[in-house]
Amino acid sequence: MSDGPEHLTLARHGYLVGREVGRLAYGCWRLPETPQEALAGKIDAALEVGANIIDTAAVYGAGEAERMLGALLAERSSLRDEIVLVTKGGITPPVPYDSTKRHLIASCEASLTRLNCEAVDVFLIHRPDFLTGAAEVAEAVAEIVASGKARSVGVSNYTLEQTRALQSFLDIPLVVTQPEFSALHTDPLDDGTLDYAQGASILPLAWSPLAGGSLATGRVPDRADLRATGLVAVLERIAKDNGSTRECVALAWLLAHPAGVVPIIGTQSPERIRAAAGAFEIKMSRRDWYEILEASRGAPMP
Ligand SMILES: NC(=O)c1ccc[n+]([C@@H]2O[C@H](COP(=O)([O-])OP(=O)(O)OC[C@H]3O[C@@H](n4cnc5c(N)ncnc54)[C@H](OP(=O)(O)O)[C@@H]3O)[C@@H](O)[C@H]2O)c1
Repeated sequence: MSDGPEHLTLARHGYLVGREVGRLAYGCWRLPETPQEALAGKIDAALEVGANIIDTAAVYGAGEAERMLGALLAERSSLRDEIVLVTKGGITPPVPYDSTKRHLIASCEASLTRLNCEAVDVFLIHRPDFLTGAAEVAEAVAEIVASGKARSVGVSNYTLEQTRALQSFLDIPLVVTQPEFSALHTDPLDDGTLDYAQGASILPLAWSPLAGGSLATGRVPDRADLRATGLVAVLERIAKDNGSTRECVALAWLLAHPAGVVPIIGTQSPERIRAAAGAFEIKMSRRDWYEILEASRGAPMP
């Protein structure tokens, strides 16, 4: 029996589409909350902390997030090569989902126009569309890659079986899976997502890694969710031990998982983006990690 390392390893780099990427990503969902002029400062802060994966989607701000990013890319031609650009298609409010071949190809083309670039690095199916078969989705993404509009493809909010079904129709590998994953939303630990990702060398990008801010503020929108109270207290205790913050501990908890999870941070504050790098400094023991999970579940491990 091994005692294991005293503290869990938090690697700063991973790999995606053959490129070295930072273990933090920056997400564009909330970009339209602040004006265009503020965007460069956020992207610079992200790059400073190694967050070179930039995650966006056609549906964010009804295209506005991509337009904002596209305006910055047009202004700074060197930026495109500094980032690994991820976008998504397939959410069509109020339908709400459409992953037909016709729609996904048109969506990717419209994203490229807004983003002012010729190709994205990864195109993701944003959410599973129950009315489009895996074979058709596979045809769509294969064509998107074959036509040079995306260098690679992946999925978001897909179950393990949905991912497997899609992969079974593809000759190219899915390279990203993007589940909701945080110390408050721990399903990917148990539903096979992170195990499959390891076996298939898929990079897991964790969305809402601070549970949309709840783990930072300690406030949970769903007040019936009492688990958060104990969880926030445990995060607080570990933060104190480290002279750090709950946010950094919550990010470190994701970074410590062996699947190489990349949390997508979503703050609009350049200072908070920079502060997220403090996650790599957290000394987290095996017991600390499980204590967070137990607090989240409201029960000791079996
Ligand atoms: N695939 C999907 O279906 C899906 C769904 C949702 C999100 N995403 C991706 O994941 C990214 C991140 O999601 P998210 O924005 O929900 O991530 P998050 O990091 O969990 O939450 C960000 C929110 O927390 C707040 N926050 C962060 N630090 C704080 C602090 N110290 N004190 C108070 N508030 C704090 C931010 O407010 P401030 O801006 O004021 O700091 C912001 O409103 C998105 O941009 C998107 O790229 C994907």
